[in-house]
Amino acid sequence: MSESVNPIREQWQSRFSFIMAAIGSAVGLGNVWRFPYIAYECGGGAFLIPYFTALFTAGIPMLILEMGLGKRLQQGAPMAFGSIRKPLQWFGWWAAGLSAGIVIYYSTILSWSWVYLFHSLKTAWGTEPELFFVEQVLHRSGGPTQLGTPVWPLVGGMALTWLSIYLILRKGVRNVSRVVLITVPLPMILLAVLLVRGLTLPGAMDGIRYYLTPDFSKLFNITIWLKAYGQIFFSLSLASGVMIGYGSYLDRHTEINNSALITGLANCGTSFFAGFVVFSMLGYLARIQGLPVPEVTQSGTGLAFVAFPMAISKLPALNAFFGIIFFITLLTLGIDSAFALQEAFTTGFYDKWRVPTEKLARYFVMIAFVLSLLFTTRGGFYWFDIVDKWICDFGLVISGMAQCLIVGYLYRIGEFRRYLNHHADIRIGAWWEWALRYFTPFILTVILAGNVMQEFKGAYSGYARWITLAGGWGVLLIWIILAYILWKIPEKQEQRTKNKEQRKKTGII
Ligand code: PFF
Repeated sequence: MSESVNPIREQWQSRFSFIMAAIGSAVGLGNVWRFPYIAYECGGGAFLIPYFTALFTAGIPMLILEMGLGKRLQQGAPMAFGSIRKPLQWFGWWAAGLSAGIVIYYSTILSWSWVYLFHSLKTAWGTEPELFFVEQVLHRSGGPTQLGTPVWPLVGGMALTWLSIYLILRKGVRNVSRVVLITVPLPMILLAVLLVRGLTLPGAMDGIRYYLTPDFSKLFNITIWLKAYGQIFFSLSLASGVMIGYGSYLDRHTEINNSALITGLANCGTSFFAGFVVFSMLGYLARIQGLPVPEVTQSGTGLAFVAFPMAISKLPALNAFFGIIFFITLLTLGIDSAFALQEAFTTGFYDKWRVPTEKLARYFVMIAFVLSLLFTTRGGFYWFDIVDKWICDFGLVISGMAQCLIVGYLYRIGEFRRYLNHHADIRIGAWWEWALRYFTPFILTVILAGNVMQEFKGAYSGYARWITLAGGWGVLLIWIILAYILWKIPEKQEQRTKNKEQRKKTGII
């Protein structure tokens, strides 16, 4: 790529690489284990209406904002927000810290997937996959206070996960450009293989009917709309600094608007497609167990590590083969979301102190590996659940709101829109400003209020209050302090001058 605003900073090999990496970060486990269920619970085919409304009114506008901000300021979230207003660097670190938090617990799912990949060779879970998951894989204790020792196979899976992330990130985004050429198409191909298998099984159509039969009456229920927005935010990896970080490796000629649209549509298309895979298999499972489809359905970990393995055990042939395919699908879906998350955080250290890429990858992976060991303990599953809930339901929502308000009110948004339209395939209108200044913050406020109210009604999942205070609010608050420290540590003098020059060139100051 040619002339850049900041020649020292690395760049994507091409626009194609950037789009692939953005799709890789968005398309993750959420597409397979969250979307199909939400769709099914929220009106089947009719859910596509709130879902695509959420995509176009909030998802794509925010994606344009994040990618555009990164590209324009040539910095990851911490320094990008810091160049809008100095104290906002504090917020930038906090937002990027969410991505560090997410990758630390997201790695747990990858570690389970590694363990299952090995168990697939013998479909070791047999016909009791739930028991197998809880007792043989997690060795789950009675509650979050009974941590127990780490479970060694899970530690092994965790080590493999972090080693993979290190090997991919140690050479920076050029390497990412190459890796995503495998990790993005491969899971799609594997999902297609699973789909062909699923659709040719008896009962598959019953499952698909459950998935898609539209129930338009559900559209009058406000929670369904909020779920659609929540899913869009998580699924597009918004509000965690990921897309700002990835955008910052673009050169000044790369267009943003259409790239965001392609990323958003590819992500939602994959979710819709994954629904067919999941529900054809569940339809089969329902048929052979003589149960109605809703009774075999579970979402999240229950789907990936219980229901799906069960269906695999019950296949007439090639069980191990399909087990391997399924867990490689999960690994390849998750790994590019994981390294995008790490990159979103570590890029701040490069921007501020020019810490070399390899060193950043090495230190982050070492520290994150140690922290993630919490989730490999016998009580780790509960902490995983709590940290996930708080970061997604509170952290990301607050961060998304703040991001819209900062760009909407403190960063000449009209001029920013003209900048985005300058090299654009598709021009965005004033609706974009409206979406970011009023609509998206409003929706996020309603979602946040709903989540907070739920918390007041009763402790999450029946955990003791102090546990959710420590693992949930505690984690978010500790980050406020750590983010403050990172903000206050001065940048290198020479770096400060460079950053200032760069800000002048890009017209920020
Ligand atoms: N978008 C990913 C998924 O759907 O699985 C997960 C994710 C990645 C969420 C990055 C949030 C994030 F910042």
